[in-house]
Amino acid sequence: MSETATAGRLEGRLIALGITGSIAAYKAPELVRLLQAEGAEVVALMSPSATRFVAPLTLAALTRHAVDDDVLALLPDGRIGHIVVADSADAVVVAPATAHWLAAMAIGLAGDVVTATCLATGAPVVVAPAMDGEMYAHPATQANVTRLRDDFGYALVEPEVGPLASGSSDMGRLASLPAIVDAVVASVEDRPVRSPDPASRPPLTTMPREADLSGRHLIVTTGGTAEPIDPVRVLTNRSSGRMGVAVAEAALDRGARVTLIAASVSVPLPDRALIIRTESVAQMRSAVLGNLAAADGTAAFDALIMAAAVGDFRPARPAETKIPRSEALSLDLESTPDILAEVSRVVGGRDTGDGPGAAPAGPALEPRPVLVGFAAETGSLDRASDKLRRKGLDLLVANDVAEAGSGFGTDTNRVTILAPGAAPEAWPLLTKREVADRLLDVVARRLDARDSARQTAESVSSQRDPEETRR
Ligand code: CTP
Repeated sequence: MSETATAGRLEGRLIALGITGSIAAYKAPELVRLLQAEGAEVVALMSPSATRFVAPLTLAALTRHAVDDDVLALLPDGRIGHIVVADSADAVVVAPATAHWLAAMAIGLAGDVVTATCLATGAPVVVAPAMDGEMYAHPATQANVTRLRDDFGYALVEPEVGPLASGSSDMGRLASLPAIVDAVVASVEDRPVRSPDPASRPPLTTMPREADLSGRHLIVTTGGTAEPIDPVRVLTNRSSGRMGVAVAEAALDRGARVTLIAASVSVPLPDRALIIRTESVAQMRSAVLGNLAAADGTAAFDALIMAAAVGDFRPARPAETKIPRSEALSLDLESTPDILAEVSRVVGGRDTGDGPGAAPAGPALEPRPVLVGFAAETGSLDRASDKLRRKGLDLLVANDVAEAGSGFGTDTNRVTILAPGAAPEAWPLLTKREVADRLLDVVARRLDARDSARQTAESVSSQRDPEETRR
């Protein structure tokens, strides 16, 4: 299903939910759900007393973010947790807000993450108080509420009259959750998303994937190829290798054996992979083709993830000595072999063409591996489905490298997944590691489906009447 199918009123926004120590804190997980239903990414901040009313684990599991409940806490990468939230959230909503918290906020006492974040943020703040009726009516509380609303410009969602924890019925009950969501929507309306780049937001906790690729062999290519112009100069591209390395690391974490065929990269390579360093398209081609089949002719790999940026042209006649400086230089370029299209022909048992090094048709490789290509486009993705068909791929990960946050050298990517016979699936802006994890979810499912189809076919053929099989 496409993730962009239903756009909520908070689509793409990061909402920080500050929870303080009132009994109404038990409603916070439901508020998270409602904000998420509007399309928001939610991060929870808790005062120490709030953690006694509702478990941080509940909020962490629902939000997929570590809960920030310590004003001194640092993120794993060293950034200050509440400052990252303050800088990236589109709104901070404090619900429930206790009398104590209102007082602390009114005088700017940054003793807990909720006040500290409100002090540090330029985002709108929505406050939904909840407490005993007498406490809410007290002039001290009322003065604090007035200060927050009138002096700080915070949006107040007044409590309701209703039964309270004390047993009495009075004004002090947390406002209805839909009313709080409406106030959050109103606070961000017409403002651009403050920090769309996931790398500048608090990190998502990576959902631990099972070892669903153990026993599988994945070939991953990465980096940009380089073609010699002369002994000192090369024709290359801007690929950093980040996407392919993210795929290799994600596959290793899920138990796969990984052969990583790397051209020029600017990121470290995972030492748990078998690394084959290559430079030119020709070298990458022979490294890939050399790993496809086992000695008995069966497939030696389960999936090929071709994330490398393979150059399409190379100098037809690289100079043997350094080309001296001159007014101008024209280079004669020839096209390079399409490695992926060739792999697809080998896998399908078709001949590999009539270019140099082409092989005659052999038997199709069994069990059939999954072939994944990447297509870096600029402008539109119209050419991607043609590429999927032309190269005979199972999956094509297409992205517009001209779009902000996507493509070369960034930590994030916004991709569309194409598969034969299926509608294109647009994924939201994700870190490259998340793209890798989701892509491997698809690859793992396909490999499992492939194996169970084979098992079913084998058991059907072994149960057949031997007389019938002989006929
Ligand atoms: N690829 C390949 N061999 C090539 C060129 C590309 O194996 N000589 C692979 C890439 O690694 C990628 C996929 O094919 O997985 C698509 O690459 P792309 O450059 O988008 O496709 P091209 O066929 O080169 O088309 P064009 O450059 O015209 O867009």
